Amino acid sequence: MKSSTQYVCTECNHQSSKWLGKCPQCGAWNSFEQQEVIEKQTRAAKGVLQTEVELVNLSDVEDQKLQRIETGFEELDLTLGGGLVQKQVLLLSGDPGVGKSTLVLQTLVNLQEQGQKTLYVSGEESVEQVAGRAKRLFSEQDYSQVQFSGTAGVQSLLAKVEEIEAQVVVVDSVQTVYDEDVNSLPGSLSQVKAATSALVQAAKHQGFILILIGHINKSGSIAGPKALEHLVDTVLQFEGDLENDYRLLRVLKNRFGPTGEVGLLLMTEEGLEDISGDTSVLAGEDVSTVGAARTLALEGNRAFLVQVQALTNHTVFAYPKRVAEGIPISRLHLICAILDRFANTQLGDKDVYVRTAGGYKLNNPISDLAVAAAILSSLKEQPIEPSYAYVGELTLGGRVLTNKNTAAKFKNLRKLGIQKVISSKAPDSKGSVELISSLRQLLQFL
Ligand code: TYD
Ligand code: MG
Repeated sequence: MKSSTQYVCTECNHQSSKWLGKCPQCGAWNSFEQQEVIEKQTRAAKGVLQTEVELVNLSDVEDQKLQRIETGFEELDLTLGGGLVQKQVLLLSGDPGVGKSTLVLQTLVNLQEQGQKTLYVSGEESVEQVAGRAKRLFSEQDYSQVQFSGTAGVQSLLAKVEEIEAQVVVVDSVQTVYDEDVNSLPGSLSQVKAATSALVQAAKHQGFILILIGHINKSGSIAGPKALEHLVDTVLQFEGDLENDYRLLRVLKNRFGPTGEVGLLLMTEEGLEDISGDTSVLAGEDVSTVGAARTLALEGNRAFLVQVQALTNHTVFAYPKRVAEGIPISRLHLICAILDRFANTQLGDKDVYVRTAGGYKLNNPISDLAVAAAILSSLKEQPIEPSYAYVGELTLGGRVLTNKNTAAKFKNLRKLGIQKVISSKAPDSKGSVELISSLRQLLQFL
């Protein structure tokens, strides 16, 4: 067998024939790892699994109706496109402490209640820790059918999975399992890749649902191999500030449903809960307030209200402060400059602080108008009606822009208690939309 040595960047999967201190593709330092053994391993694995090639005529394949298995969380089902699917391999990633272990444990208990045989493998926490959490969360519920195992070599684990005929298997986390035949440390790229591909093959072969938990590294991508994302059917990212209770489930890839969908959950004393109906943590209090304006957050097919808060003070610093939480700081600088130029605000001697309720990340520039309104409201000490929503992107020329897709979402705002949308003219906008085209006009709608 030909054995070659290769070096692979653990951040971006860039390959090189020699070790490099800095990756020429993604710029990461010290990210190269030798990958000789894995080559031999996959070849050996291929040899074992070699089967005869069968050809199928595509037109003979019958339509397959996906049978969905509900997870017990409406919001998780929604992000998955209706629930889990047989043999689905799902990668759940997120920062430490965001609630990944809690989410999968609750999901497993919900699934075992429906008669699914479940196995929870954890190399992150001891059996006492997991059992302690389960006792606290499910004191009223019977969760006796959830089997637990500490982490082990992937072959021994798979033997156990087969023996107990598990239908849903959770591996927390994928960085802690290892392939006995691969000669490098657990958590290393070769190990994670080899162990994951063995688990994925088994899930497809034996027909169980596999949920893998992956850590996120400092730059926000799933730690270790990017290659992991190609091996799985679905990638979910669990987000949320640890100081806040709400959590966002974002689907980054899904072979069994749409991407771009998000789910909203709440972390409580009793674990995670759906917050489908009530998104008031993000919309803020329903009272007229100085410096607080509501805007629309668009995520997948959903739209909900998010409150933007602003505070302006006379500065005591040489350079006025600009602090932004929930919107990019560059956006705040831009909006301040536009306000100064087109609404005569003279923010040059004022500190400006902006944040969003619940720390919600507003990535879409259609929230510009709400940021501008909140700043103006704070400057003029003029409270804003909570039944107003401000939606539109600001241009450098002081104009307000809204596109057709956004305007189509205005209809839903009534349900959310909004009487008036302040936005710009977009095709199809009618009804209770107050149209403004320039920032000057905004002043009359505070
Ligand atoms: P955990 O699921 O361990 O996070 P991860 O696996 O992503 O690292 O959850 C960690 C945090 O969640 C922990 O700091 C406490 C909090 N938490 C609650 O607020 N309520 C609960 O019922 C549970 C189980 C955890
Ligand atoms: Mg955990």
